[in-house]
Amino acid sequence: MPSKPLSVLYVSSEVYPFAKTGGLADVSFSLPIAIRDLGHDIRVMLPKYGNISERKNRIHEINRLRDIPIPVGEITEPATVKSSSINNPRTKVQAYVTTNFNFFDAKKGLYADPVTGEAYNNDERFIFFARTVIQTCLLLGWFPDIIHCNGWQTGLLPAYLRTIYAKEFANTKILYTIHNFSDQGIFPASSCDKTGLPTEVYPQITHDKKLNFLKAGISFSDALSTVSPTYAKEMIKDKEIGGGLHTALKNHELPCIINGIDLYGWMPKSDIMIAKQYDANTWQSGKAANKEKLLQTFDLQPKESTPVIGMISRLSEAKGIPLFLEAAADILKEDVQIVFLGDGDTKMKKEISKIAAKFKGNFSVKLGFDDELAHLIEAGSDMFLMPSHHEPCGLNQMYSMMYGTVPIVRSTGGLADTVNDYDPKKSPEGNGIVFKKYEAADLVHAVHRAVKLYGTENWETVVRNGLSTDFSWSASAKKYDELYRSLMDA
Ligand code: GLC
Repeated sequence: MPSKPLSVLYVSSEVYPFAKTGGLADVSFSLPIAIRDLGHDIRVMLPKYGNISERKNRIHEINRLRDIPIPVGEITEPATVKSSSINNPRTKVQAYVTTNFNFFDAKKGLYADPVTGEAYNNDERFIFFARTVIQTCLLLGWFPDIIHCNGWQTGLLPAYLRTIYAKEFANTKILYTIHNFSDQGIFPASSCDKTGLPTEVYPQITHDKKLNFLKAGISFSDALSTVSPTYAKEMIKDKEIGGGLHTALKNHELPCIINGIDLYGWMPKSDIMIAKQYDANTWQSGKAANKEKLLQTFDLQPKESTPVIGMISRLSEAKGIPLFLEAAADILKEDVQIVFLGDGDTKMKKEISKIAAKFKGNFSVKLGFDDELAHLIEAGSDMFLMPSHHEPCGLNQMYSMMYGTVPIVRSTGGLADTVNDYDPKKSPEGNGIVFKKYEAADLVHAVHRAVKLYGTENWETVVRNGLSTDFSWSASAKKYDELYRSLMDA
């Protein structure tokens, strides 16, 4: 007999296509759909930032959820929760979007001002969001079996559920997924008072004498998880990643479930955002057409038999951008052209633009976020570079392989778990190029190896190995299903 479906509320600060700064948004879209496909009543909840259009996203009012008073410190702000959905051609999932003028609508960025780069009052914004999630459940009379929290932004939700609202949610189990152990939501200790939580629990929501949202999530959830096995090990071993917070993980199990990808949105056969669709049989001609459009878009002259390396990345230390900048001049000594799309650290933005200017004709940069261009980069590049210092899971390496684009990655976190180094003799089953040390020479050598393979018969083998790797959600969604059920049985 099939087991009874569960009710699940999936809470995330970013969900594609509403709002995205990184892979969390893609996972918060594709995982709930995969869980729905397993038969569960899963619903998603997120904040509605100022740049989310209500018309384009078909966001509607819900009568019962208007002007809900939400306390944040000394003030009370109204939350109005609206209804929308996320869907692929087969499956639809209910989405609740939290609106409030001061905290969200008036702000165009997700966490920081897009022009000045200055962070918003994120302690108050995500206190507000957490409390709104709870009020929404109370007003709907919906007490899900599972509340699945994601990212530091949802870290206080478990704390509210197990203190102020312990009675109401006594039968609800909480799963907290850590998508990035370096991103913790750290605020001055004085912000603790804004939470309205009882002062006895302050030790459980602070770390190093500061309010720490991630710590709160760890302290109050029934179970934790993270997004790749290698990252889980690194979180504990490499104390730098969590800035000492690994001590909070003692006495916790840490199941690791590797992310899958959305095979409707990221499949060259059906991708409407690229210049020409293709599949495993037509990848060579398909890639050629997309490469032409890509080079045009980036203002680069096509060069016969020169490979194009694509990069789509946040400009940050974690993503290995300083390493790339250090190695760029040497990489560009190879016969390659590089296209880069991304946003982030102001200093790195300046530096990468400077290097692009110096190597004009072979290196072109677009600063910002552009979903459509991201698809074209995956389709039109021959190689895709991810020199990450840390990578909890990473999705672009998987998208790359689906597009016949060979990933060049550093062996860390989810990159180590999804990309196997290709060597014609030692590992002919490899689906990418992998380097170990976080050193410029190793990165340059990896690119050199890729360039030497490019255009040979062996190159086709690597591409085909990538194309045939299974990155669907099916296995991972089942693991979440098992984790949810084990929580219910506990
Ligand atoms: C974060 C991590 C990334 C991961 C994503 C989804 O953005 O940096 O590695 O793929 O979350 O889990």
